[in-house]
Amino acid sequence: MALIKNNSPVLFFYSNSKKWLAKISKKESFHTHIGVIKHSDAIGKEYGSRLITNKDKYVYLLEPNMYDYVMKIQHGTQIVYPKDIGYIIARSGIGSGQKILEIGTGSGSLTSFVAGIVKPRGHVYTFDVDENFMKIAAKNIKKAGVEKYVTQHNLDLKTAKDMPLDDMDVALVDLGDPWVVIPQVRQMLKGSGCVFAICPTMNQLEKLTMALVENEFTDIESTEHILRTIEAREGKTRHSFQGIGHTTYLCFARKAFFGRDSKKPAEKLEKDTRDTKKSPSKIAAKKAAAKKAAAKKAAAKKAAAKKAAAKKAAAKKAAAKKAAAKKAAAKKAAAKKAAAKSSKKTTKKPSRTL
Ligand SMILES: C[S@@+](CC[C@H](N)C(=O)[O-])C[C@H]1O[C@@H](n2cnc3c(N)ncnc32)[C@H](O)[C@@H]1O
Repeated sequence: MALIKNNSPVLFFYSNSKKWLAKISKKESFHTHIGVIKHSDAIGKEYGSRLITNKDKYVYLLEPNMYDYVMKIQHGTQIVYPKDIGYIIARSGIGSGQKILEIGTGSGSLTSFVAGIVKPRGHVYTFDVDENFMKIAAKNIKKAGVEKYVTQHNLDLKTAKDMPLDDMDVALVDLGDPWVVIPQVRQMLKGSGCVFAICPTMNQLEKLTMALVENEFTDIESTEHILRTIEAREGKTRHSFQGIGHTTYLCFARKAFFGRDSKKPAEKLEKDTRDTKKSPSKIAAKKAAAKKAAAKKAAAKKAAAKKAAAKKAAAKKAAAKKAAAKKAAAKKAAAKKAAAKSSKKTTKKPSRTL
């Protein structure tokens, strides 16, 4: 029988939306809308027992599991939620004793869950570039009690020259641009090892899938998981109004060798068109065509700009010519007028002949 002691973790459970996670500390108590909860009242009780507050309400003393830790995690970043984590673990084949590579530790939600699965012989090697997020993750991982099974690295694998790991069983990627690190992931994964990546948008999924095919991954699958909770009560069971809607898309794939064996050089790739209906050579041809079209468009734009500039210059020249002609005409008219005036002055009036 598991009895609660000083320092034991406890989830004080009142309802799905009102629950408090704490480590028992003899002198601690906290105030809630259902009254004061004294930690010392929990000591010596069995997990699952009730604790009565000073307002005569009660909470259940539950032993927290990883779901409780992750749902109460301090958020430094977006996190991966248990509704997605379940499928990630199942689809990636994560199990006890495995070596896991993770790129993008974030708040450490996925890290903690996965470390809880691979322990005690397995390990999670997790990479992030943001020291602040790494500190938050370290706290969350410690709270979840799995710090022994996690090593945090502050390293950007996008630019790293040498890959620090190899023969990883599974790679988990949660960055804005997961397709950029697929070649690095490939270097660190064992053959047939699963890579999983988070993609909040469809465009990211497309780019990632192209990179997976180009880097010889197979068994590619993209999914979305919607969780609907049900409020079940006698005579009035219905969907809950609460719940998490769209969070992200998930993408899975496995490292393959498109050649016959793992030592074949890249140029001897066999075509593998099963996953995307597009072979690597088709992708290359499409890329080349797109490049050609872009160059044609740029040349046409340049020619149009040149034509427009020439037209503008000609118009300017014509306007200048017209203005000069107008000025000359005005000058000529003024001269004529002046001449007429002076001849009028000098001409004598003819004398009247009688
Ligand atoms: C959305 S968060 C990951 C959340 C995490 N999966 C969780 O469940 O808590 C993305 C993380 O990727 C990190 N990141 C961004 N670029 C990176 C890179 N090049 N290498 C490693 N981490 C990177 C960010 O600092 C951020 O912490």
